[in-house]
Amino acid sequence: MFGTQINFYYYSGTGNTLLVVKEMIEIFSAKGISVTLHKIEETDPQKIDTTIPFGIAFPVAFQSTLPFVCDFFKALPRADKTPVFMVDTMMAFSGAIVGPLKKVLTEKGYDCIGACEIVMPNNWLPKQINEEVNGKKINSGLEKARAYAENLIKGNTSWKRIPFLSKGFYHLCCNHFIMERVNLAEGRKITVDQEKCIKCGLCAKLCPVNNIKMKDYPEWHKSCELCMRCLSFCPANAVIIPGKKFKQYRVVKAKELIKKNIK
Ligand SMILES: Cc1cc2nc3c(=O)[nH]c(=O)nc-3n(C[C@H](O)[C@H](O)[C@H](O)COP(=O)(O)O)c2cc1C
Repeated sequence: MFGTQINFYYYSGTGNTLLVVKEMIEIFSAKGISVTLHKIEETDPQKIDTTIPFGIAFPVAFQSTLPFVCDFFKALPRADKTPVFMVDTMMAFSGAIVGPLKKVLTEKGYDCIGACEIVMPNNWLPKQINEEVNGKKINSGLEKARAYAENLIKGNTSWKRIPFLSKGFYHLCCNHFIMERVNLAEGRKITVDQEKCIKCGLCAKLCPVNNIKMKDYPEWHKSCELCMRCLSFCPANAVIIPGKKFKQYRVVKAKELIKKNIK
C-alpha cells in the first residue's frame, strides 16, 4: 500500500498529537518506510505531493477539530486514488470527525485507507494535572499508535464514517461558529497579565494562525482557534483567561512547535 516513502502532515497544540506521530514514524522507519514530517500550519495544501501516500494528524476540538485543520483538508488538491490515513488525539470523544473528513477526501479522489482516534490527556484548561494518570494515558495512547502504524503497513485498517452527530459538530466547529462563540463569551478572552509578562514573544511565535502580535505586550486579535499553545507554554504563566483557573499542560518543548515562517 505504502511503498517506501510517505509524507506526514500534523498539527499539535500541546504535544499529544506530536508524540503519537513520532511513535508511528518509529514503526514506519523500522519497516524501511521513510517519512517526511510537515507542520500543517507551514504547509500550503495546494502544493502537496499527491503522487505519494500521506498521513494527517491533529487534535480533536469541540467534537470536531480546529478550523484551520479543516481548511487544510478542504484545500487539498484533487488526486487520483492517493492513499491517505488520519489519526486524531482527544481526551475522550471526538463526535466522529472522521466521517466528515472522509467525505471531503473521497470527493477529491483520495483513497481513505485508515482512521484512528487515540485518547491522550486533556489539554483544554485542565484544573489539575495528575502526572501518574496522564502517564498511563500517554503509554496506552502510544501503544495504540504503534499498533495502528503496524496495521497500516499490513493493510489492515479502515476509515469508517459514523453518521448522525458528526456532521453537525463538523460544520459548527470548522466554520468557526464554536470558536467565535467561545471567544466572545464574556470573560473568556485570552489576555496577558502585564505584571508577569516577560515580553519574550513566545506566545506570538507559537500561535499557529498568527493571531498574536507583539507590541509592548502580546495582543490577541480576532482569529483565535483556542489551540492552547499560548496558555500552555508561557514561561511566566502570564497568558490568562480572566477568572479562569487552569494548570499548564504540555508534553513537548516549545521549540518543536514553533513555525519556521513566522509572519
Ligand atoms: C479547544 C479544545 C477543545 C477540545 N475538545 C475536545 C472534545 O470535544 N473531545 C475530546 O475528547 N477532547 C477535546 N479536547 C482535548 C484535546 O483534543 C486533547 O487533549 C488532544 O490530545 C490535544 O492534543 P495536542 O496536545 O496535540 O494539541 C479539546 C481541547 C481543546 C484545546
